[in-house]
Amino acid sequence: MRRNSITACLRRGVIALLLLVCTLPAQEREPVEVYQARREALRGRLQDGLIVLFGRSDDSGPGALLPFRQENNFYYLTGYNYPGAVLLLAPPVENRRSPFWEESSRLPREILFLPPRDRDQEQWTGPKSDPYDPATAAQTGFAAGFAAIKGIEALEAEIRRYAQGFPNLYTLLPESHSEETESSFARENAEKLRTILPFAKLRDPRSALASQRQIKSEGELKLVRKAVECSMDGHLAAMRELRPGLFEYEIAALMQYTFGRAGCTRTAYGPIVGSGTRSTILHYNRNSERMESGDLVVLDVAGEYAHYAADITRTLPVNGRFTPRQREIYEIVLGAQKAAINAVKPGMSLGRRDSDSLFQIAYNYINTHGKDSKGQPLGKYFTHGLGHHVGLYVHDPSNLQGRLEPGMVLTIEPGIYLPEENLGVRIEDMVLVTQDGHVLLTERLPREVEEVERLIRKSPD
Ligand code: GLY
Ligand code: MN
Ligand code: MN
Repeated sequence: MRRNSITACLRRGVIALLLLVCTLPAQEREPVEVYQARREALRGRLQDGLIVLFGRSDDSGPGALLPFRQENNFYYLTGYNYPGAVLLLAPPVENRRSPFWEESSRLPREILFLPPRDRDQEQWTGPKSDPYDPATAAQTGFAAGFAAIKGIEALEAEIRRYAQGFPNLYTLLPESHSEETESSFARENAEKLRTILPFAKLRDPRSALASQRQIKSEGELKLVRKAVECSMDGHLAAMRELRPGLFEYEIAALMQYTFGRAGCTRTAYGPIVGSGTRSTILHYNRNSERMESGDLVVLDVAGEYAHYAADITRTLPVNGRFTPRQREIYEIVLGAQKAAINAVKPGMSLGRRDSDSLFQIAYNYINTHGKDSKGQPLGKYFTHGLGHHVGLYVHDPSNLQGRLEPGMVLTIEPGIYLPEENLGVRIEDMVLVTQDGHVLLTERLPREVEEVERLIRKSPD
């Protein structure tokens, strides 16, 4: 009995050790059931087609120098963060006359195709999942029966087999106007599918995915909040260190260091630190110049935490005191921002078209307060949109004319840019839409003139 229990104990120990050795490095992500529910919801939305989505690949051997980052839609649906994977999702076949109908009821509805392990490549980029190891199904949430893990070599045959049952084939298609689409990635993958199925009707699943991604889950909100907290720490550090004579890149570096130490291991976008005339360049990111006393500086800088972005801007006086004109413009932008934020609730829209949209509230405020150097209203100097959704990507898929719903995370970021006065002001905060209004996620980060001035001048009162 005793010997048996020692043996059992040893066996358990060895299994635990093996699991430890075989488990890939932990990353913070949501439970596998969350991703599974998202896949199921997508299959429910796109019942007339087979869905095939490609994950990103990485460069081989010593060429893999940049950190791997999964394609956002792929990550949203799988939480799988390693190169070379492909996802196939098949809704149930309802047309009993389809020759595929009977076979389809016995096939998995979801397949994650993974490349075989490659020990040479793993020397450069570390261990990967083994498609032929039964433990991979549990780790990835592709449980046997309903779902499956297969080697990538099975991809073509499986696509051909499943495609018999569906009139359409959904995959990301190249889009000229989308920032998030890296067109060549989408084009290459679409071409691969055309080679496999030359007559398939290719459709883009983006709008279905966008509707899903716009409503954040509890787990996503935790990660977004963490990105916001780290990024606000970066802004506070910048406020405390700011002084004339520093270079823009020094402040950018301090902010990245600060949010990096807090767990945001990437920037959510190229940091924008634009002082003086550069404060009027919307996405200035050279960050190369010295900041002078009397300048304003726009800091549009934020980090990404476990794939989720923040997006925050503050505009600060480099020497700790706004000039009267800078303060006047700053307070108009702040007034517009507060008016728009106060109006955030379900049913409103961000877009320009609706006469009662959040954009119009901010625009009307700016256009009816203050004047330019020629005595003209300031509305025409608010030269960009009011905001956008934020999530896996800083400019998350956004239907700007659509109505806000609880669970959406947005920026509200009015600005006024007056190049002839070397004066640009943008203030950008993040809000979560709730059932009856909103929560200001960036509340902790000061925006009021006196508070901001006090922090820069480090005066305790
Ligand atoms: N940081 C880019 C933007 O505010 O949209
Ligand atoms: Mn933004
Ligand atoms: Mn921004």
